[in-house]
Amino acid sequence: MSANLVAATVRSGLYTRIIGKRIRFFQELTSTMDTARECAESKIDEGTVVIAEFQTSSRGRLGRTWVSKPGNLYLSVVFYPNRVTLPLIGIVAALAVKKSILKITGTRPDIKWPNDIMIHGRKVAGILVESVMMSDQIKYAIVGIGINISLNREEMGELGSIATSLNLSLGYEVSRENLLRTLLQELDSLYFDIKKGISPIQEWRESLNTLSEKVSVAHGGSKIEGIAEDVDNLGNLIIRTDDGNLVTLTSGDVTLEKNDAAR
Ligand code: BTN
Repeated sequence: MSANLVAATVRSGLYTRIIGKRIRFFQELTSTMDTARECAESKIDEGTVVIAEFQTSSRGRLGRTWVSKPGNLYLSVVFYPNRVTLPLIGIVAALAVKKSILKITGTRPDIKWPNDIMIHGRKVAGILVESVMMSDQIKYAIVGIGINISLNREEMGELGSIATSLNLSLGYEVSRENLLRTLLQELDSLYFDIKKGISPIQEWRESLNTLSEKVSVAHGGSKIEGIAEDVDNLGNLIIRTDDGNLVTLTSGDVTLEKNDAAR
C-alpha cells in the first residue's frame, strides 16, 4: 500500500499565480473530472486543483477508461478560458507534464499528438480536456491529468505493452510531491503565457514525436493514413494522405507506423 500524497510538502515552495492557489485532496473519488466540474459549477477560483489518490470511474480520451491505482497522480484543474486560450489548454498541460518530468528526473519525454506523454515509445501520462458551453459562451473547462508513477506491469494489465510508469521506466522511485509541485508551477507559467498571447505551439511542435512520420489515425469510425506533415496554430494535425490530399484532424488516435503499439 503506497503512502498518501503529503499536502504540506506539495504546498511548501509552491509559488504560483493562478494554478494551485487552492488544492483539494481526496482519498477516493469517482473521477477528479466530476468533482472539478462541481467546483466549476459553483464558480470556484480559476486554477483550483482537485486531486484523488484513487478514482473508481476514471475516464480517458475518446470514451476510454483510465487505469487508476493508489501511488500515481490523478488531478483535474478548473479553467475559465476564452476562445483563444481554450484550444491551447490541453497543449500547455502536455508541455507542463513533459517539462516537469524532465526537471524532476532528467529524462526527456516526447509527446504523441495531441497530448500523450511518452517515454521510450510507451505512454506514461495522458491529458483529458472537457469544456462546457452555455449558449455560445464558454462556461468552463476542466483539464484532467493522469501520470503513471508507481503503476506496475500487473496493474497495467493488457496495456502493459503500450504503457509504462515513471518508476518502471527509470528504475527508481520518483517523488510524487516534487513532481506535482513542479507540474503546477510549469502549468501556471505556460497558462500565464497563453493569457498574454504567447503561443505554445512551436515548443509543443518541437516535442511531438509524430511529425514527418507515417501514421494511421483512427478518427470517428474511420482510419486516415498518411504522413503527419505539421500541426496548425490551433493544434490540429495536418496529414498528407497517400493520394496527395491534405486532411486536417481536430482529434483522433495516432499509431506511428515505425514503432507502435502505443496509443
Ligand atoms: C487519456 O486518455 O490519455 C487521458 C487520460 C486522463 C486521465 C486523468 S486521471 C485524472 C483525471 N480524472 C479522470 O477521470 N481522467 C483524468
